[in-house]
Amino acid sequence: MNYYIFIIALLASSCRAVPAIVVPGEIWPDDQGRHVNAHGGGILYHDNTYYWFGEHKGERSSSAWVGVTCYSSHDLVSWTSEGVALFVVADTTSDIREGCVLERPKVIYNQKTGKFVMYFHLELFRRGYSAARVGVAVSDRVTGPYTFLYSYRPCAGYWPVNMTEEQRNSTITPGDFPEWWTDEWRKATNDGMFTRRDFEGGQMSRDMTLYVDDDGKAYHIYSSEENLTLHLAELSDDYLSHTGKYIRIAPGGHNEAPAIFKKDGRYFMITSGCTGWAPNAARLHVADNIWGPWTEYPNPCVGEEANLTFRSQGTYILPVVGKKNAFIFMADRWTPRRPIDARYIWLPILFENGLPVLKWYDRWDINEVFR
Ligand code: GAL
Repeated sequence: MNYYIFIIALLASSCRAVPAIVVPGEIWPDDQGRHVNAHGGGILYHDNTYYWFGEHKGERSSSAWVGVTCYSSHDLVSWTSEGVALFVVADTTSDIREGCVLERPKVIYNQKTGKFVMYFHLELFRRGYSAARVGVAVSDRVTGPYTFLYSYRPCAGYWPVNMTEEQRNSTITPGDFPEWWTDEWRKATNDGMFTRRDFEGGQMSRDMTLYVDDDGKAYHIYSSEENLTLHLAELSDDYLSHTGKYIRIAPGGHNEAPAIFKKDGRYFMITSGCTGWAPNAARLHVADNIWGPWTEYPNPCVGEEANLTFRSQGTYILPVVGKKNAFIFMADRWTPRRPIDARYIWLPILFENGLPVLKWYDRWDINEVFR
């Protein structure tokens, strides 16, 4: 080969990005050869590194016997175990005692305070899913250890911004309905019957995510009102509490597993229906302003098993750093009989007519799909 052609070929090949192959649904070994144990997770990009936080799950139990794990990566494919970021504790008086339910942890970084803040869905020990609380923990270091601060039901004593005077003042209560799912019950639910019920004690908070907008404002999005209605609530400047400003989204729509991203100034949220560990069809919600109005669109999944979100349930949408309009839909394929074995379904978000579309890939290259 001519010397110059050789140099040009060498330069061209060195410019081509190293492949970063994602194989959804397979075992994903960490640096120690163990399947990544970070379920219902989310990712924070900090100091040129991706940090993946998720639920540690056991062989037989989905409850929290260890806590929130953390893994780090530079390429989103090879993951180094950073150990446990937040431990559940032996102290039987603690909200996060061993055996509680601690799900869908998410971590954000507060520029003003320099602290890392973790939110998660918390259910108290042996109380099923009745507590419906959010838990908050904080750390000076991204990988932890995180210090548990408190758990509560958000926005006690505040009305949603988008609830009308009439809805706030209605005297209809859930006790008025011996039966759920009737037309009257649905209307009352849509009109905020459960929001009123929980006004004083705080709103129920189960499946959740966090979102930090371009202006640094952070939001907590959670399944509320018996999982019937999503709430989107503003966090305080230090991200450690709720300000009390919030809206209801898709009242009575039965949405779980919220995951959100922003593209060209529009907000897109992908959610699931409510069928426990069993998968169902995803939904899409779109808004030009985070405070709404939010409009619902059909399932963004296409192709085989689209009606089951490819046998998975979303947990987070990750913007790939350094690439324009590159977002990864992160989902869990739950295996409740052997929770530790649950798989990760990560798929690129494609766009058609300005709307997100999800297609199945047996394997895909992050650097090839997102150029
Ligand atoms: C799912 C939820 C999971 C977990 C599970 C328990 O619907 O998304 O995070 O709470 O129910 O059955």
